[in-house]
Formats: sequence, C-alpha cells, structure tokens
Amino acid sequence: MRHEFKHGIVHCGDALAVLREMPGESVDAVLTDPPYSSGGLHMAARQADPADKYQHTGAIRTYPPMLGDLKDQRSFTMWATLWLSECWRVAKPGAAAMVFSDWRQLPAMTDALQGGGWAWRGIVVWHKSGGRPMLGEFRRDAEYVVYGVKGKRRATHRRCLPGVYRYPINAGRKVHLTSKPVELIKELLYVTPDGATILDPFLGGGTTALACMQTGRRFVGVELSEEYCDLACGQIRAAETTMR
Ligand SMILES: C[S@@+](CC[C@H](N)C(=O)[O-])C[C@H]1O[C@@H](n2cnc3c(N)ncnc32)[C@H](O)[C@@H]1O
Repeated sequence: MRHEFKHGIVHCGDALAVLREMPGESVDAVLTDPPYSSGGLHMAARQADPADKYQHTGAIRTYPPMLGDLKDQRSFTMWATLWLSECWRVAKPGAAAMVFSDWRQLPAMTDALQGGGWAWRGIVVWHKSGGRPMLGEFRRDAEYVVYGVKGKRRATHRRCLPGVYRYPINAGRKVHLTSKPVELIKELLYVTPDGATILDPFLGGGTTALACMQTGRRFVGVELSEEYCDLACGQIRAAETTMR
C-alpha cells in the first residue's frame, strides 16, 4: 500500500520488497533507524519483547509492537547488508547514508554498510542522556549513526558539522517505542542538499518524514507495521495541516 503526500510517499510494506521495486539513483540520501535486534548476549534475551528490551523497568507507557527485532547476530548482519545494498542502488552517486545503531550492534552495522557497497566515513554520536545506568560501569547513554557515502562525497555547503549531538528523548512527544527526536534528524539532514529526497526504509512513527517537511526536503518512507504506518501517515497529515 502506498500513500502519497505533498512532500513525499509512504509505502506500507517490507523494506527489501519495496526497495527492489524502486528505480536506481532516485534518492539523494538514506537516513534510517532499523530495528536493532539488540538487547542481550543470548537468544532468550534478544528475543524478548522489544518493549522490555528498550524501555526502563517500570515504564508505564505502551506503544504498538515493533516488528523485525528478533534476528540473531549473523542473520542481522546479512539482512542489513541486503537492504543497504538495495539502498546503495537506489541512491544517487555521492549520496550519504546515515544508519542508527546501538553500541552492541555497531560492529555489525559498520560491516553491513561496507558490505552493501558504501564507503564508511565515520560515526556520529547521539548523546541521548538518561540512558541506562550501569552499577560500577559506564552509563549507556549514547546511540550512534553510522555514516557512509556512495562513491565520492560532494559537499553541499561550507559548514563544519559536529560529531556529537545532545538531544534528550522527549517522552511526551514519542509516538513509537524508539522514536528519535525530530530536532536530531533535522541536524543530520544538513549533510544533504536543500530540496533533497531522503529515503527511510524503516520509518516507524514518521520522524524522518517530519524532519524532511520542516527542512524543505522530500521523503520516501517504508514501514512494515500497519499500526506504525497509520501513525506515521497521521503525523504527516497533521504536519501538512499546520504548514498550510
Ligand atoms: C527503530 S524503529 C524506527 C523508529 C523511527 N526512527 C521513529 O522515530 O519513529 C524501526 C521500524 O522498522 C519497522 N520494520 C521492521 N522490519 C521492517 C521491514 N522488514 N520493513 C519495513 N519496516 C520494518 C518496525 O516496525 C519499526 O517501526
């Protein structure tokens, strides 16, 4: 199912299936936050409900189930390599790829990015504060954005961007179990040209689409969960109304 908006398109379906139907060299950048399949060393811990894996014990807010989060390490890396190579085909030469990861999946994601054909150019740190405290160990209060380029990078402006961004999670604005702050996504979009078309094959509650709309860019989003697809489309429609 495909939903068209003034500023972009949302496909409700499986990312790999939708990507395979997209024309080559048709987007200016990829910015996405896939399911991490993280959360533990052993199968039982990984296969726990994402709501238990990614929320503090005692959290009372509930969200629709997040799909596709139960892969083991090898299948996660192979699957991520598959969709990243499709993203590479769909991206224009010089396009940037920005893919969220947590500390545990970072090595798998940097391998998958390179396996998918992208030239790995660095890691951006998202200091989200309030992350899980660890008795006698380092607090896990950061996530990462693996950054790569298709071929030769073309600078779109002459600003030097930071490598660390501090944006707290605003629980009141979350519509998804793992919603990212819109302001953070807007900052990341600075590596893309004005008016760019941004592909997010794991759209969730629609954060990337909202950031694109607020920065004069277009979006192509894909989301497997019907509930999240409806939520994302609702958010986009509401934003369109306020922009009129
Ligand atoms: C980490 S969340 C993205 C959250 C998003 N960044 C936001 O701020 O709302 C990943 C999303 O990918 C979706 N997903 C999982 N497997 C998928 C697949 N094969 N194709 C498309 N979407 C998928 C999940 O349902 C989930 O909503």
